[in-house]
Amino acid sequence: MNMMAPLFSSMAKTPLRSLRFPTLLFLLFFSSNFFPPCEPLTVETDALLRFRDQLKDPHNFMQSWKASDSPCEFSGIKCHPVSGRVTEISLDSKSLSGVVSPAISVLESLTVLSLPSNNISGKLPEELSNCSNLRVLNLTGNDVVGRIPDLSRLRNLEILDLSFNYFSGSFPSWVGSLTGLVQLGLGQNDFDEGEIPKSIGNLKNLTWLYLGGANLKGEIPESVFELQALETLDISNNIISGNFPKSIGKLKNLNKIELFNNNLTGEIPHELANLTFLREIDVSANRMYGKLPEEIGNLKNLVVFQLYKNNFSGELPMGFGDMKHLLGFSIYRNSFTGEFPANFGRFSPLNSIDISENQFSGGFPKFLCENRNLRFLLALENKFSGELPESYAECKSLERFRLNMNHLSGKIPDGVWALPYVQRMDFGDNDFSGGISPEIGLSASLNQLVLLNNKFSGELPSELGKLKNLERLHLSNNNFTGKLPSEFGALEQLSSLHLENNSLTGSIPPELGNCARLVDLNLAFNSLTGNIPQTFSLMTSLNSLNLSGNKLTGLIPESLEKLRLSSIDLSENQLSGRVPSDLFTMGGDKAFLGNKELCVNQNPEMRTNSMINICTANHAHRGIFAGKLFLFCILASALIVVLAGLLVVSYKNFKYSEGDIENGLEGEKEVHPKWKLESFDQLDINADEICNLEEENLIGSGGTGKVYRLDLKKNGSTVAVKQLWKGYGLKILEAEMEILGKIRHRNILKLYASLLKGGSSFLVFEYMENGNLFQALHRQIKGGVPQLDWYQRYRIALGAAKGIAYLHHDCSPPIIHRDIKSSNILLDKDFEPKIADFGVAKVAEKSQKGSDHSCLAGTHGYLAPELAYTLKITEKSDVYSFGVVLLELVTGRRPVEEAYGEGKDIVYWVLNHLNDRESVLGVLDDKVAVDSVEDDMIRVLKVAILCTSKLPSVRPTMREVVKMLTDADPCTFRSPDNDSEKNGKVFF
Ligand SMILES: *[C@@H]1O[C@H](CO)[C@@H](O)[C@H](O)[C@H]1NC(C)=O
Ligand SMILES: *[C@@H]1O[C@H](CO)[C@@H](O)[C@H](O)[C@H]1NC(C)=O
Repeated sequence: MNMMAPLFSSMAKTPLRSLRFPTLLFLLFFSSNFFPPCEPLTVETDALLRFRDQLKDPHNFMQSWKASDSPCEFSGIKCHPVSGRVTEISLDSKSLSGVVSPAISVLESLTVLSLPSNNISGKLPEELSNCSNLRVLNLTGNDVVGRIPDLSRLRNLEILDLSFNYFSGSFPSWVGSLTGLVQLGLGQNDFDEGEIPKSIGNLKNLTWLYLGGANLKGEIPESVFELQALETLDISNNIISGNFPKSIGKLKNLNKIELFNNNLTGEIPHELANLTFLREIDVSANRMYGKLPEEIGNLKNLVVFQLYKNNFSGELPMGFGDMKHLLGFSIYRNSFTGEFPANFGRFSPLNSIDISENQFSGGFPKFLCENRNLRFLLALENKFSGELPESYAECKSLERFRLNMNHLSGKIPDGVWALPYVQRMDFGDNDFSGGISPEIGLSASLNQLVLLNNKFSGELPSELGKLKNLERLHLSNNNFTGKLPSEFGALEQLSSLHLENNSLTGSIPPELGNCARLVDLNLAFNSLTGNIPQTFSLMTSLNSLNLSGNKLTGLIPESLEKLRLSSIDLSENQLSGRVPSDLFTMGGDKAFLGNKELCVNQNPEMRTNSMINICTANHAHRGIFAGKLFLFCILASALIVVLAGLLVVSYKNFKYSEGDIENGLEGEKEVHPKWKLESFDQLDINADEICNLEEENLIGSGGTGKVYRLDLKKNGSTVAVKQLWKGYGLKILEAEMEILGKIRHRNILKLYASLLKGGSSFLVFEYMENGNLFQALHRQIKGGVPQLDWYQRYRIALGAAKGIAYLHHDCSPPIIHRDIKSSNILLDKDFEPKIADFGVAKVAEKSQKGSDHSCLAGTHGYLAPELAYTLKITEKSDVYSFGVVLLELVTGRRPVEEAYGEGKDIVYWVLNHLNDRESVLGVLDDKVAVDSVEDDMIRVLKVAILCTSKLPSVRPTMREVVKMLTDADPCTFRSPDNDSEKNGKVFF
């Protein structure tokens, strides 16, 4: 049969051409009933081509799909070796978008339809239920919407995986009749709230059941515990209630239980210990309590054990110390007490452990890294005391080592400073003493070193300067002495340096100015002497500077004005001369008090009750002169920029008006002089209807035109029509049409059609019931309850991020929106967000060398800071604007408010409220920040802060933003590797 397969496929290649003589002979020779007639094959080819035509294939994976070839040679297709019929379509992770065509329902022999991890949208066609031979239907990880059609006729289905889509409607209870199912995945969809159908208990062959994130409520039906073959039970991320089921002990084959993030109550039953194959259990984030039964210490095969965020108490069963396979263990935020099992980790290849926020006491466990596999060790906020065991000096695999807020004391073993892969070392808020070993220079991956609030002493080793990856160095409130090493100047990545409240002496090394990424510098309350180095003006990212409480002398460098500081404190020093006026405006009196020799210029606009002296003529003449020169330079260069900008703009206007005329002429010549209508969608649109807009249906008015609501007479559907301002019309219209006409994404506003005649231009969009995000954020429903709760806000954030990510990463060439703001994010009736207003968007063409990106666009409060001094707009400017939107979602505030201070915005305001957890909580919108979502909000806040980083290069890409937001889902969570870290602690 194998030998014959090539023959058949070459036959199929020429289905319609006249058969050549030898082939004919061959055909006659073998009986023709053995041979399939050609016709069905062309039908199948045709069906596949129609299937392909409904898909967008950005990487041309389906290039080989040609009408002239046998479908069996199409990439991703398999055929029956004898009949030549298509049996399998497998297109896994090919970035396909578009919809699944009903055409494939003619593929009678199809057994596998597997299209996982693409961007396929639209509805799943009913006709699929004609493919009665289907055994595998896998569409996980797409954007398919609507009800799942009734597939109960597909009796041969063994694998049905429709998880991670946007299916809605009620949970498909007909799955209970597909008794051949072995694997069933329906999780992560938008079903209506409902219960798990009892009929699931009919699926006796089921080994894998994934119903996570499917809006399921009520208790788990008893019938589920009759599924004897079940190996994986995942009903995580729902609203399942009731006591943790004792009957779970009946599912003898279970090796994985995922019930995290539900409303389960009660205790862990003894019966759990019957499940001897159990490898993974996660019941985190429920409302369970009580002591863990001693017997579960006998579950010898446990690999992952997670029950963080519950209210368990008492001691951990000693049996955990004997386990041999444990990799991940996370029980943070419970009320466990007592000593930790001494042998924990001794016999296990432990990889990740998080026991933070409990009340474990006594000595710190010795063996967690006994098998040299530990990467994450988190034990913050407990009551461990005594010294850190020597054994951790050998734990070379460690990446995260956090013990802050315990009662640990004594010296840190030398080798701990030299751990080669450690990225975060946090020993803050303990009673540690001794010095930092010079071996710290070997800890080449170190990214954050936090030792604040201890009794560390000695000099700061110059080897700290070797840590090329160090971003955060927090050593405040210790007894460090000696000089600030000039080697710190080599810390290229350093963004936050806190050395306040130590006993450092000597002068500030000018090399520090080389730390170009430094955002936050605090050297307050030491005994530093000498001048403030001129080189500080090189730290162009610096946002906050605190040198107060030292013995600094000399003038304040004028050049500090160049920095875009939002906070400065130079008080309590011995500085002299004139305070540069911009710095004074920004910092006010209190930033300069306690420096007897400082003075400020007489300025009528300034508050008269300043406690700082007014400068007299002999005060720092030099400074004033330098200031004037500087000002002159700025004005001159600004003038040049403005002139150049005017030139560009007027040239462009000239070009556009030229275009206008041309187009007008063309319009005259048209065969249908009435309207030029271009439709991008099936929607039936009547031009006359569109142009007869009624003022009473006006729903908005903005920079580019007025928007009306319009109920179409023909089919009763509603659309939004934007009438562009006259004259402005053409270029905006062209831009929007050009962009929106081409792209299709669930989170991008659909353009149905455009109409154009002479000076009037209309765009017809899908209608968005819930207006824009800005309005929705400030709207309240009855009783002062905000319209959007956190969950909805989160969904909006994620959806909008996906839309923008699509523009940046999936469009070719990429599209920069340039005016991302909450009022350009529209919400449909389900509050699904859609990015709108592409009037100023720009296709990012590399060839243009940025010259064309200069046209001013964007909105105050959302503009990335770099746009103040560069004309080059990149995707990262959109990321910044999106970060501002995230801040709006988290804080419920507006991007610009009087309360932030003059010229300040929400980014500034938030950055100044991140001192400790308390103040961080104060930032969150108190209308939605109930306890259960606080941490999730903080996660999104973290993303927002990254997005609004001053330096574009520090900002994540939109793809990364989507990833981070996905990880911040209030309803999922996971994996000990990347999330055993608790939020709020990571950043602040
Ligand atoms: C569906 O396909 C994805 C991607 O290949 C795979 O990871 C998943 O296990 C499949 N689903 C089932 C139930 O086999
Ligand atoms: C369940 O699996 C067994 C063994 O593979 C098989 O014989 C039986 O037909 C399956 N049941 C159904 C209803 O398909």
